[in-house]
Amino acid sequence: MKFYLTTPLYYVNDTPHIGHAYTEVAADVLARTERLLGKDVFFLTGTDEHGQKVATAAKALNLKPKELADRMSKRFQKLWERLNISYDRFIRTTEAEHEEMVKKVFHKLYQKGDLYQGTYKGYYCVHCESYILPSHLQENLCPDCGRKVGSLKEPTYFFRLSKYQKDLLSHIDAHLEFIGPPQRRNEVISFIRRGLIDLSFTRRSCEWGIPIEEDFTIYVWFDALLNYLSGVGYLSNSKLFGKYWPPDVQFIGKDIIRFHDIMWPAILFSLSLPLPKKIFAHGWWKIAGEKISKSKGEAISPQDIISEFGVDPFRYFLLREIPFGADGEYSYAAFVKRYNSDLANDLGNLLHRTLTLIDNSFDGKIPKSSGSSGERLKEKSLSLAGILPQIEALKYSEVLSKIWEVVAVANKYLDEKSPWRLSQREAGPALYNVLETLRIVALSLKPFLPASSSKIAEGLGIGEEFKKENFKKIQWGVLPEGRKIKRERPIFPRKK
Ligand code: MSP
Repeated sequence: MKFYLTTPLYYVNDTPHIGHAYTEVAADVLARTERLLGKDVFFLTGTDEHGQKVATAAKALNLKPKELADRMSKRFQKLWERLNISYDRFIRTTEAEHEEMVKKVFHKLYQKGDLYQGTYKGYYCVHCESYILPSHLQENLCPDCGRKVGSLKEPTYFFRLSKYQKDLLSHIDAHLEFIGPPQRRNEVISFIRRGLIDLSFTRRSCEWGIPIEEDFTIYVWFDALLNYLSGVGYLSNSKLFGKYWPPDVQFIGKDIIRFHDIMWPAILFSLSLPLPKKIFAHGWWKIAGEKISKSKGEAISPQDIISEFGVDPFRYFLLREIPFGADGEYSYAAFVKRYNSDLANDLGNLLHRTLTLIDNSFDGKIPKSSGSSGERLKEKSLSLAGILPQIEALKYSEVLSKIWEVVAVANKYLDEKSPWRLSQREAGPALYNVLETLRIVALSLKPFLPASSSKIAEGLGIGEEFKKENFKKIQWGVLPEGRKIKRERPIFPRKK
């Protein structure tokens, strides 16, 4: 079975910050989960390189837009590599193949009669790369980002968005899963009900874009959205496209809902293509109540956090700290707190002290399991067999907290049993139970913390078989007795 998922393309005017990493890590967890289930996954991500915003940023640095794009696109790719992002394709909107496809799609829409010439008169927000109606201005500022807007009057090609209003509403109505979470769905429905107007799909005054006709460039959002098609071979590789289309899940942040939940499906209607199954919008990471963005984000770069704490702690914090879909505050103090309590203390310490006990009293070999009395621990561990639907429903934070409930029960069990005070005969099975719980915990964490879960498995002496295992191995009694464990230094050393 195939599974196609996407992230938005990141603007190259900005260095990658926590907000970008969030979308990417969230998508990676789902990609890894679906691969574990044996699905044929195609995970698309990349960079959005045209438009006025990028051109302006390049000018300020005395660079050509493409030079800035080359530089920044690399930075995103480097960060994704470091973050263990398992994408299958990284697309850049300046690739020739993408540009060619965009032009072809433009002509298709024109031939269909969905593009027509006119004049756009109104406002434009460069930060959002978005047209703003005079009636939508808020105290003369952009209603979405609160920045200054420019006024614009230019000839253009309009897209008949209004024509698809009815189709959109009935599609949303008939497909509960299409827009998530539900709050966003309601927002989109009420926005559409207020009436859609046709959208300018070209720019006359922005040179940095895909050229069309003599005097126009393609509007950057139209260009960028089409990556979800070109990235998977639309009009160039029918085999690839036929295999993966439509997307199963598209990840976005809540700031780009209207583009993805209205403009994008309307384009697909116009092209007579099936719509994505699910478009899910997550919330914002904020600092002192404000969305992290270029200016705010640079103070805390993901690279710095990773250097200090490691890749998996960063992935863990992003997904555990706030429910996926809601907003949350980022702070160094909150990060250290979460790291020390959940990773260093609860999980890391459980692993380390158990392996130390095995090393000291059992010659480093997994003891026999028989005669144990760990029913509650077993039951709790096996409850993790039910996390898959929750992961697929993108309830990441809930899943992680469920896994940590198991870790807590295991810690309590170890304290209560105090194997260091028991005879070998009694201590062995108790330690086996804890190790088996750790194996199940590591398996459940595989998509979230890929490197650390492997490290735990290596510690338990099952590194090789673990590589191939998935949630089906959430069963009791799998760990082979007598297997040599491997005690290393604590995987999450405590921070001061
Ligand atoms: N280029 C467009 C997307 C085009 S997709 C066809 C864009 N780029 S962006 O770089 O501004 O944002 C990319 C993603 O990062 C979005 O999903 C956005 O929501 C996310 N984030 C950027 N800042 C964020 C936070 N502070 N918090 C969480 N995510 C946010 O929009």
